[in-house]
Amino acid sequence: MAAKTTPAEAAPGSATTAGPASASEAAAAPLLQVSGLAVAYGSTTVLDDVSFSVAPGELLAFLGANGSGKSTTLRAVAGLTPHQGGQIEIGGEHGRPAMVFQKIHLVARRSVLDNVCAGALSRMPVASSLHPWFYPAAIRREAMVALDRVGLAEKATLRAGTLSGGQQQRVAIARALCQGAEVLLADEPVAALDPEAARTVMGLLRDLAHDEGLAVAAVLHQPDLAREFADTVIGLRSGEIVLRGRASEVPPEEITGLYTPMTNSESK
Ligand SMILES: Nc1ncnc2c1ncn2[C@@H]1O[C@H](COP(=O)(O)OP(=O)(O)O)[C@@H](O)[C@H]1O
Ligand SMILES: [Mg+2]
Repeated sequence: MAAKTTPAEAAPGSATTAGPASASEAAAAPLLQVSGLAVAYGSTTVLDDVSFSVAPGELLAFLGANGSGKSTTLRAVAGLTPHQGGQIEIGGEHGRPAMVFQKIHLVARRSVLDNVCAGALSRMPVASSLHPWFYPAAIRREAMVALDRVGLAEKATLRAGTLSGGQQQRVAIARALCQGAEVLLADEPVAALDPEAARTVMGLLRDLAHDEGLAVAAVLHQPDLAREFADTVIGLRSGEIVLRGRASEVPPEEITGLYTPMTNSESK
């Protein structure tokens, strides 16, 4: 992996300069580096030559209209959707990302702690993963640390289904932390939440990047949240990156433009 590549350098010709927030960020190699990513469903191209990187300590937000390819980008990085071209390099000890979704997928009848422990399943020996609700003490301790990190340690013994939507999303994030990944992907993690819960979850994702050094890439449907919480933004249109920059510097009208219908000449 090219250690010196910053988001700006990975994007020659980008409209706005996306650089590291600090000198220490500049020195860090990206934890996620995607170059020339191409995805097609049948003969329909959905992503074309998508390149970006996410450094440790960076929260990157993907913006764009419905169908622009945001979810496909994250799913391809996570290995959930096959890609026909390009390279995906994931750094860190485990070399794979963790992902959280708009639809939270906790097991409502199990305890909050058990749900978080489930994140560790992928790292457990086969013998113990055959008994998925019987977690070793070390895993339960790790899960408590993750739950504490999302501010929900005191809810550990409650059934997951009794928590609010925002709390459940934080449990899902704790479960992702329990996977031990250093790259966290979030596809519309706050789209189903009320505004206050959405800000809490976005603040948590930002803190995981800034304080713990995770590389976080989140699809957001609200540009305002991207501007407030993200370090960098990428705008997608019809499967191509048409906007990239620091969240605080991208002109609002360029973001608004992502959501306006294409003219005939653009769609040809
Ligand atoms: N499994 C699939 N099969 C065929 N087309 C798909 C599939 N998933 C997504 N698409 C198409 O790919 C394009 C991008 O979709 P998606 O990545 O979900 O967009 P976004 O998340 O930005 O709304 C859309 O045109 C969508 O219809
Ligand atoms: Mg989507």
